[in-house]
Amino acid sequence: MSQQPILSVVLPVAGLGTRFLPATKAIPKEMLPVLDKPLIQLAVEEAAKAGITQVVLVTSASKRAIEDHFDVNFELEATLEARNKQSMLEAVRTTLPNGMTLAVVRQPKALGLGHAVLCAAPVVGDQPFAVMLPDDFIDDPQGSCLADMVALYNQQSAFSLAVEEVPREKTDKYGVVSLNADGRITAMVEKPKPEVAPSTLAVVGRYVLPAETFAALREVKAGAGGEIQLTDGIASLLSTQVFRPHRFKGIRYDCGSKLGYLQANTALGLRDQEVGVAFAKWLSSVI
Ligand code: UTP
Repeated sequence: MSQQPILSVVLPVAGLGTRFLPATKAIPKEMLPVLDKPLIQLAVEEAAKAGITQVVLVTSASKRAIEDHFDVNFELEATLEARNKQSMLEAVRTTLPNGMTLAVVRQPKALGLGHAVLCAAPVVGDQPFAVMLPDDFIDDPQGSCLADMVALYNQQSAFSLAVEEVPREKTDKYGVVSLNADGRITAMVEKPKPEVAPSTLAVVGRYVLPAETFAALREVKAGAGGEIQLTDGIASLLSTQVFRPHRFKGIRYDCGSKLGYLQANTALGLRDQEVGVAFAKWLSSVI
């Protein structure tokens, strides 16, 4: 039997975004722009390069702006058309790339990332799927991290988690994996203290997961803070499914943190056609 393709990506965006308050009081953190595109759009564009056709947003009541961003804005389009602003018109019309559909489900309460992913189950159905955390922006101008992970699934039937090496003193900020001699993931622990971390290979926000993830998440008991962790759901599948680490190309910016967000804007600003040269000049004058 041929394997089922990866067609859906789940984008859990129902978190509170407390690290960016007060900016995120009324605006979702996923709408913060890196240069001129919101984080959520950068994620959707990466997914489009991976052949994904269905985006499933898991949102909360305060995230209407994200849905509006991917919807038609008649008034704006009519005005741009009347002013003959063709490239701007194209930019606002293709926030959702051609060929993609958007479904929105609500997470009624922020009960954790695992719970948010589980909320997408009725829309994804009994299919393997991808998960992306939009605040992890992976800058790979030539490629797409998720496209490489989908290719790994298509070629080797392996599910995968994107990983990167982190300094040992930072393992308590990430999910950390252990590998066996074949390079297969055998265990995963959430935020281990540096002295007990099984490795320094940290999971970042890209996952290609089996359909069974949903059943596994239904069995997960809420941990500290009442949250259902995605890590616990995946950990329970590692003995029966093949999961591999994906060491991605490009640079990951943690845009959920102030430093990562500034770095991402600086990187894209420096290579921007319109402002890059002037920005580089200004930047070198202030440091
Ligand atoms: P974070 O741990 O970054 O939390 O969530 P957060 O609320 O977004 O941000 P801070 O830490 O308060 O600043 C990781 C991802 O999981 C989603 C978030 O939206 C983010 O994409 N998430 C988290 C949910 O969708 N629901 C939850 O209950 C928890």
